Amino acid sequence: MMSMSDLSLAGKRVLIREDFNVPIQAGRILDDTRLRAALPTISKALSAGARVMLVSHLGRPQEGQYDAALSLAPVATRLSELLHRDIALVKDWIDGVSVEPGQAALCENVRFEIGEKNNDDALARKIAALCDVYVNDAFGTAHRAEASTHGIAKYAPQVCAGPLLEAEIKALSQALKQPARPLVAIVGGSKISTKLALLESLVETVDQLIVGGGILNTCLRAAGHAIGRSLVEEPLVQVASRLLGRAAARGAAIPLAEDVVCARESSETAPATVKNISDVAAGDRILDVGPRTARRYIALLEQAQTIVWNGPLGVFEFDQFSQGTRAVAMAIAASQAYSLAGGGETLAAIAKYGIGERLSYISTGGGAFLEFLEGKTLPAVAILQERARAHPDYVHPSEGY
Ligand code: 3PG
Repeated sequence: MMSMSDLSLAGKRVLIREDFNVPIQAGRILDDTRLRAALPTISKALSAGARVMLVSHLGRPQEGQYDAALSLAPVATRLSELLHRDIALVKDWIDGVSVEPGQAALCENVRFEIGEKNNDDALARKIAALCDVYVNDAFGTAHRAEASTHGIAKYAPQVCAGPLLEAEIKALSQALKQPARPLVAIVGGSKISTKLALLESLVETVDQLIVGGGILNTCLRAAGHAIGRSLVEEPLVQVASRLLGRAAARGAAIPLAEDVVCARESSETAPATVKNISDVAAGDRILDVGPRTARRYIALLEQAQTIVWNGPLGVFEFDQFSQGTRAVAMAIAASQAYSLAGGGETLAAIAKYGIGERLSYISTGGGAFLEFLEGKTLPAVAILQERARAHPDYVHPSEGY
């Protein structure tokens, strides 16, 4: 990919595709991590004297209709605070935006435009015509081929990756392409089905795969354990069995829980009981791993040289079912390993235990993070690479030797 730092931006119309898809409730931004992550890129472009247009989606509005609830207005306000300068929101931007050198404007939600979602060529050309340089810095949206993430990169005069996108790809590649070993991955969450591709990919590369939540329950069932009324995906028990077999065949491991925290229901007030896995009763629901299991996981994480984390181990929102997730979080925080985390619930756990500063890298991607770990091609990245290869100065990496 061309890098933003390779290009001269002074006086140019620079359109930066951002991922400002942040949680907003009643006009209030609940988590501004994605905005903060975008600041260095915006500041760089501004100090280079660019005329900056910021473009992002927010939520999933119906195209062709303005929806005040999905306006980027709160983002413009917060960005103005964070950048200590006025960032105006431009509602009708598609036919042209006027920005002075060294200034930035935020274009209204690009998903209000008809054709954004299905990567309409005419819309892509139209947005491309607004700029001299297209910078994609939206790692969180890189798994979507949309007009402002993919189509535009075919037509903008110059295209490049922004520093955040580059940092994400570098961090994720470091953890997966040539990881220091042992490589331990932690994958939690309610359903195997949503993480199947991820698990199938990780089981081929990791040394240990720690699973939690409904994924663990399904694996426990596959290993022949009774799990009472725990959340399980019956149709995927065979798949879980295959994963366990594949890990064993490679000499890797999916260490299953020896003890678990059970309750009759998943609620804030439900009394919790620690049980050996062999003692789970018909009416029990497994809502966390037990202390012996947590200690085993900690020992694995102490040995790890690379750690990849996506998803909690239990219902960590309720304190009595949070100890497994907490133990893993604290072990990662204490570890010297290269540690990488991503995904909405994982970020919530990281925030709850205050360990953000202690991880090597926290991805801003949700779906994009998972798809990268699954080994999939991210279309918004692929198109930047294609454009770079088509550039007259392009040298294939192998030609460098
Ligand atoms: C995300 O939050 O994962 C990205 O912004 C993509 O959003 P989408 O799933 O609505 O395309």
